[in-house]
Amino acid sequence: MSLTAAPTKDTEYTEIGKKSLIHDPRSGNDNKITLARARGSRVWDDQGQEYLDFTSQAWSNNLGANDPRVVEAAIAQLREITHARPNFNTAVLLELTAKLREITPGDLNRIGYCLHGSLAVEMAIKLAFKNKPGANNLIVLQDAYHGRSITTMAASWPHPNNPFLAISPRFTRVPHPDPYRPRLGMDIEAESKLCLHLLEETITKGVDGSVAAIMLEPIMGNGGHIVLPVSFHKGVRDICNRHGIVLIWDEIQSCFGRTGAMFAADYYGIQPDIMTFGKGIGGGFPLAGIFASDKLNGFDAGEDALTFGQFPVAMAAAVATVDAIISDKLCDNARRLGEYATERLLEMAKHRKLIGHVRGPGLFVSIELVKDRASKEPACKAAEEVYRRGVQKGVLFGDSRYAGLGNLIKLKPPLDCTIADMSTALDVLDEVLASIEADNIA
Ligand SMILES: Cc1ncc(COP(=O)(O)O)c(C=O)c1O
Repeated sequence: MSLTAAPTKDTEYTEIGKKSLIHDPRSGNDNKITLARARGSRVWDDQGQEYLDFTSQAWSNNLGANDPRVVEAAIAQLREITHARPNFNTAVLLELTAKLREITPGDLNRIGYCLHGSLAVEMAIKLAFKNKPGANNLIVLQDAYHGRSITTMAASWPHPNNPFLAISPRFTRVPHPDPYRPRLGMDIEAESKLCLHLLEETITKGVDGSVAAIMLEPIMGNGGHIVLPVSFHKGVRDICNRHGIVLIWDEIQSCFGRTGAMFAADYYGIQPDIMTFGKGIGGGFPLAGIFASDKLNGFDAGEDALTFGQFPVAMAAAVATVDAIISDKLCDNARRLGEYATERLLEMAKHRKLIGHVRGPGLFVSIELVKDRASKEPACKAAEEVYRRGVQKGVLFGDSRYAGLGNLIKLKPPLDCTIADMSTALDVLDEVLASIEADNIA
């Protein structure tokens, strides 16, 4: 519907803008904070209210928001060239690629780019199938999250009422170990073994045809922050080797220092064949892509080309971001600050019974809220309240609304967050949990 009269005041634009956005316009848009400014670990809304941002905006500002080095690099690039289609190289594309090669694990020396994690996952899937002609299966984990394109939604945790199923590819989901909720009272190592056994049986008996790839997040993020044990990763690597299957690690959330190591592959000491990256690399600019093993064939013309896929401004921002993550030793900071946060959360759990479990590593931190520690029943209402009361006290905690798993509170600030800001956020969390417990909300 077109507008009949042009809005005259900012407030009218705000109202018309809110009503016109197509994403979830009726449920919740009015409650969204309108952000106006960001610096480091802080954001300000359009009313000038300041918040500590412990979401890093979808865990993407690994380097604090609007870092001057990134802003300057982007501006300098803006003055030179802002767009080049994939038929051309740019100097900054080659510079970034050469720099990334120096830090990618093992033989992951081939690099491809796009602007969104979901498309990076699609690129990884395409490359796996390209390298396994005739294969017709892709195996994913049951609580996976790989994005919001049609393909990556299908590869993720079964989305309730997914309206796109009719046109979605079908993937095979296998169980994975869950340290907090192991099956049948098993310990995590026994569960890891069982899941590996079921994975291998699925490959040999559970699918028709052959398997191109197994794709997983090394630390599962949006599907419930599940820290997979190293034994499971070693076992999956071994199964892929034995069956000639490509191993894809989706590191979009764990890459560039979030776990306290540059990549989760370094953290676990495991080498995938393809690794996706996104979020933290761009310093706030959209950038994602894949690192692939030298052993794999690359794409031929026309197989993977996106008009804006090699956005020079995002590349320049990424060069500055990666330089800063290295020179500021942000992996070390993430590790140290993460240890401080998890120790304090474990301490907090002694007197806040809502806290069922504390998870890391690095600044990949969350707590799971439960109604009761024995039953581990998720305390979703309490989690909603933590978010709401946190906002009132000037801290944005990460919440998780994905697929009804709404009982996680995530603390994922930029990796250059200070101990003072972490301490403030933890004090607020403690206060907020105390008030929620006092109000008997679970
Ligand atoms: C592991 C993982 N893969 C893929 C994606 C999708 O990335 P994007 O939202 O940039 O498409 C996400 C986003 O949260 C993610 O966490």
